[in-house]
Amino acid sequence: MSFSQSWLKLREPYDKRARNSTVLEAVAAWAAPRASVAVVDLACGLGSTLRATVDRLPKRQSWRLVDNDLSLLARAGDLARPPDLSVTPMPVDLARDLEAALDGPVELVTTSALLDLVSHDWLDRLATEAAARKLPVYAALSYDGLATLDPVDELDSAMIDAVNQHQRGDKGFGPALGPAAAATAPERFEAIGYTVTQGASDWVFGPTDGEIQTEVLTGWAVAAREMGGPSITDIINWLARRRGHVTAGRSSMRVGHVDFFARPTGTR
Ligand SMILES: C[S@@+](CC[C@H](N)C(=O)[O-])C[C@H]1O[C@@H](n2cnc3c(N)ncnc32)[C@H](O)[C@@H]1O
Repeated sequence: MSFSQSWLKLREPYDKRARNSTVLEAVAAWAAPRASVAVVDLACGLGSTLRATVDRLPKRQSWRLVDNDLSLLARAGDLARPPDLSVTPMPVDLARDLEAALDGPVELVTTSALLDLVSHDWLDRLATEAAARKLPVYAALSYDGLATLDPVDELDSAMIDAVNQHQRGDKGFGPALGPAAAATAPERFEAIGYTVTQGASDWVFGPTDGEIQTEVLTGWAVAAREMGGPSITDIINWLARRRGHVTAGRSSMRVGHVDFFARPTGTR
């Protein structure tokens, strides 16, 4: 599954604003006693997690940015960065070679907008491999399946149901957790002895956030069509009504997400 640069750029400021501050503070508290930190960011895209957390970590940081999309990885590696930061792009298919991404001098695992794409088995593998290495994990922005639109349309809930069903399709890691990832992932880490701090990181789009609303709504229409949920005519009419609200500056949306920081119990 590929993600366009324009989409990742568009969502980054909304993701940044949405990230749960309690969870970020837990990451910062873990990092505070350290003089330096070595981070691996799984499925880095254009490197938004680096930019969202750089100020919460010790000044000396090394980042291994991992993705299987070479064009995203090349751009992420070009980031403007403070002098104490070293960034190493690493092309890895995480479905196949997760262990290679985690091996070596790593102290913190980060990821964002990934866990809803992965399967139950892959999540188990991540938790097991992280635990074996006693690595803390900061995972942001897992979609939780709860979305609300204003003004309400009679087809909204059927559309959101179809989107949530689509989210559970295979995204390259086996049948995806989709919306279940938000609850399942922190539970999984707790079950194997991690201490977990979690909190909501919902996207909140107001009437002036037209471009991202249009992108999300269009993506939902495509997903619903692929699922064969509402009829094509109903989907087209729904999208036209929703776009009309966006264009008129009267549309708002909340799209539920969850962040967590999981720390091996007994570590500081
Ligand atoms: C929704 S984007 C999130 C990107 C970034 N973490 C962010 O929050 O902006 C999902 C990312 O997962 C990457 N990805 C998907 N499947 C992958 C795989 N099998 N191995 C490595 N990366 C993968 C995509 O290339 C994309 O960069």
